[in-house]
Amino acid sequence: MSREAANRLTQLKHQIMSSVSAFEAVELAPPDVIFEITAAYDADQSTNKVNLGVGAYRDDSGKPWVLPVVKKADAILRDDKSLDHEYLPIAGLPSFTEASARLAFGGDSVAIKEHRIASLQSISGTGANHLGALFMSKFYKDGKTPCYLSNPTWANHKQIWNNVSVPLFDYPYFHTKTRGLDIDGLLSAMESAADGSIFLLHGCAHNPTGVDPTQDQWVKIADVMERKRHFPFLDVAYQGFASGDLDKDGWAIQYFVERGFELIVCQSYAKNFGLYGERVGCFHFVSKNAETAKKIKSQIEILQRSEISNPPAYGARIVSTVLNDKALFNEWYLESYAFEFRYRCQNLREMSHRIIDMRQKLFNHFQKLGTPGTWNHITDQIGMFSFTGLNGLQVKKLRAEFHIYMTQNGRISMAGLNSSNVEYFAKAVDQVIRESN
Ligand SMILES: Cc1ncc(COP(=O)(O)O)c(C=O)c1O
Repeated sequence: MSREAANRLTQLKHQIMSSVSAFEAVELAPPDVIFEITAAYDADQSTNKVNLGVGAYRDDSGKPWVLPVVKKADAILRDDKSLDHEYLPIAGLPSFTEASARLAFGGDSVAIKEHRIASLQSISGTGANHLGALFMSKFYKDGKTPCYLSNPTWANHKQIWNNVSVPLFDYPYFHTKTRGLDIDGLLSAMESAADGSIFLLHGCAHNPTGVDPTQDQWVKIADVMERKRHFPFLDVAYQGFASGDLDKDGWAIQYFVERGFELIVCQSYAKNFGLYGERVGCFHFVSKNAETAKKIKSQIEILQRSEISNPPAYGARIVSTVLNDKALFNEWYLESYAFEFRYRCQNLREMSHRIIDMRQKLFNHFQKLGTPGTWNHITDQIGMFSFTGLNGLQVKKLRAEFHIYMTQNGRISMAGLNSSNVEYFAKAVDQVIRESN
């Protein structure tokens, strides 16, 4: 071969090499369901369109709402000349993590007094879930203890636990006939799981069903878990947002701690402070004694350091400013009988009660229309979401014919309903149900 031909051949080889990726075999992943719904909704030109997919609060005019108390805290921070952009400690802003623990466990919590809680600021609730899953995979028994997730659950739970290679199982949760809790199925799954299994429980406002255990049912759950020495992993993304009452929504956490469990709590400030994009959350490990809590915290700090180094400051400062100031705290949440007179200034209640009000209005419309089926589950369920009972075909029709967007499983975000669209939605559902009967 001539020298020229050899050079040409080398050139060709290089060209072929550079056009073939070492990652050709990577498969195209499906788009995230929720974000796909929002994209389709945004592209829809209809003036009647309704987005019931996204789990973010909207006010009665369908707009995102910046809490007035958050605006005030923001102004305070802007005026604070002592603030800089230095790194936070690895475990986060101490005034934030301490206030978060008081919120979750109660100001009088014995576990706080005994220094039995390891608290670390996290990248919102998702980050707290991830830190917890990662910690359990590394430090709980041999790292292969199964984790049980409710069926159904927030879709991200599966991805988070799969990423840390913990074996996953489902436990029954939603009873399709009653559209309530399948307490018998849940308890018997707990009974038959291997001793010491991890059970991920939604502390309040279960996503996606909106169905929570009653306090009596929580007691039964705790009884079985105690006997079987299961580990409670509590995901609490909606404290105060569900009922408007922090203690009511935090009841399960405080009850499990009182019962003496070691447990994990994942806290999010996305919904109850409307700080979705700021990624503000807190991870707590409640241990048996201060010494163990200290060791656990030191290990989680190493995990945190290797993944995010240290958490972001802005959102945590906002939350800390509100939780540590009596007047601002009262504006966010006031546990007072006078609340009816001050309704407009109770930010947390404004959101939760608007949603509760929408549930009632939707129920009333179904009653008035005589929509086939029973609809009490709409008002019985709680929090951002409702499992309507609509099937996949009905969901498709609602999108195609009425420009109403929701997940395939018939879950709606109640926050997407408002005074202007609730009747339109009820009538559309009524028509679709009658057509499929
Ligand atoms: C059950 C549950 N856990 C955790 C989260 C975490 O959300 P974020 O990471 O935005 O705080 C959510 C949000 O939808 C949720 O529904």
